[in-house]
Amino acid sequence: MGKIPAAKKQKPYESLRIQVSKVSELVDMGPKFSKAVSVDHLLSMIVKQTLDVTNTDVCIIWLKDNNGNLIPRISFGLKTKLIRSLKMRFASRMVRCIMKKAQPVTIYNIARSTKFHLKNLILKEKLASLLAAPLVIGQEKIGVIMVMTRTKRHFSEVDVKIFNALSRQAALGIGNVKLYDVADRRVKDKIKEISALFTMSHYASESVDLDLILNVILEKTRMLLKAHSCVLRVLDSSRKRTFTVTSGLTKAGAKALLKFEGELSSRVLRSGFPLVIPDIQSHDKTKASKFIRKCGIHSLVMVPLYSKRRKNGVLSVFMPEVRIFEKETIEMVEMVANLCAMSIDNSAMLERIQKDYLNSIRMLAKIIDANDTYTRGHCEKVMKYSLYICKKMGVPERYTEAVKTASLLHDIGKVGIDLNIIRKKGALTKKDWNKVRLHPDIGARIVSQIGFLNDIVPIIRHHHARYNGGGYPEPRITGDKIPLGARIIAVADAFDAMTSDRPYRKAISRKEAIEELKRCSGRQFDPEIVKLFLN
Ligand SMILES: [Fe+2]
Repeated sequence: MGKIPAAKKQKPYESLRIQVSKVSELVDMGPKFSKAVSVDHLLSMIVKQTLDVTNTDVCIIWLKDNNGNLIPRISFGLKTKLIRSLKMRFASRMVRCIMKKAQPVTIYNIARSTKFHLKNLILKEKLASLLAAPLVIGQEKIGVIMVMTRTKRHFSEVDVKIFNALSRQAALGIGNVKLYDVADRRVKDKIKEISALFTMSHYASESVDLDLILNVILEKTRMLLKAHSCVLRVLDSSRKRTFTVTSGLTKAGAKALLKFEGELSSRVLRSGFPLVIPDIQSHDKTKASKFIRKCGIHSLVMVPLYSKRRKNGVLSVFMPEVRIFEKETIEMVEMVANLCAMSIDNSAMLERIQKDYLNSIRMLAKIIDANDTYTRGHCEKVMKYSLYICKKMGVPERYTEAVKTASLLHDIGKVGIDLNIIRKKGALTKKDWNKVRLHPDIGARIVSQIGFLNDIVPIIRHHHARYNGGGYPEPRITGDKIPLGARIIAVADAFDAMTSDRPYRKAISRKEAIEELKRCSGRQFDPEIVKLFLN
């Protein structure tokens, strides 16, 4: 619809035609507004429609924010960028004046009005008259809509009524879109939750490192719920000790929070039900430690972990705001707790399987030892010396475990060597040695078939590699390129071999063996390992 001359200049029938046309447009607004896909889209539709129907030059809409301020959300017709500075306090005189009236406010000459305080806007934009109405949904006042002209204009009673009806339609539309936005946000949040849970459970099923799994689950939960921190407290199988995993806390912070959380965890474990505290600081002033106040924790939700119907831990989520937790949020935390419990169960099961498997292999190693009368007990002794070296070197626990397994299995490849050569009482021929030299490779191939023993494959393959590049198998590697475990086992293996009787020679004394290790240090053996072993 184009520009319409002021109503007073129209002939009566023309004026009536225009009014009918405006009312008709008003009737159409509801269905039009319902097609808006977002608040911004709707506001742009409202502004265009309002300027059209009211035949004015400028339209501005303010919406209330969470702090009670009116923020300009959209404007049309302004020549400057003053829109950015048009934030108003809800309690300001002008806003109160617009809000308290049942009918829109009209001002013929804004420049002279004492009610209008946006003087900068009037001067720079050369504005003359205005019409303003509150946007109201039910009892809630959510904003203001204002139209202005650059020439002075007396708004007629019909103009005011139409503007009033238009502001009601606009408020209704905004309310509907906001409801839609809330529903849409909830759906999106739900999708985000499901997606995070899926990622967590995928991670839990893909990885075998329980520490890593629990850390990832807690971190993802903290991010998803925008929590301050998360704490997982798990009772071990004997139920006498606990282990904890935290997210969002420093070491000192975790210590302080665990002290506070301990008693509440016991309460959750006893009851077996979730515990929700909307405001810790007012809930238990004496127990909310300085740390809780300092780091701004306000609310928490704690849920028990169930493993085979037994309570074996508690998952706690600490929030930075006072919060009434929705049922969905508590259910979400319970799902995460279930995932943690499942991961812990799986890890324990895997540990049992690995232990059984290792015992079987240990038995196999003993059988190999038993085949050779002269090397009986050799593997166990190599393991003992290797662990001693690991301890002296400060090797991390995880790698020490790998060295332990590898030392037990280092000669497993001998199952592939002719028993007559293994048990031969005299000196081995060159041909015999060529066959014996195959055992590290055969051993590595056997162990590589067992998934969780993959870490020890290179240790077994290179346990006869010499530090200066000699030894076997091919291709040869030197120095620090030889896996640390292989260099450790090489020293332990040689020391036990020298101090044990062999079919082709007698054992030498420990003193002589030590001298031999020193002599070969830097050539056959890693000098650092020899030094630590002998000290
Ligand atoms: Fe060997």
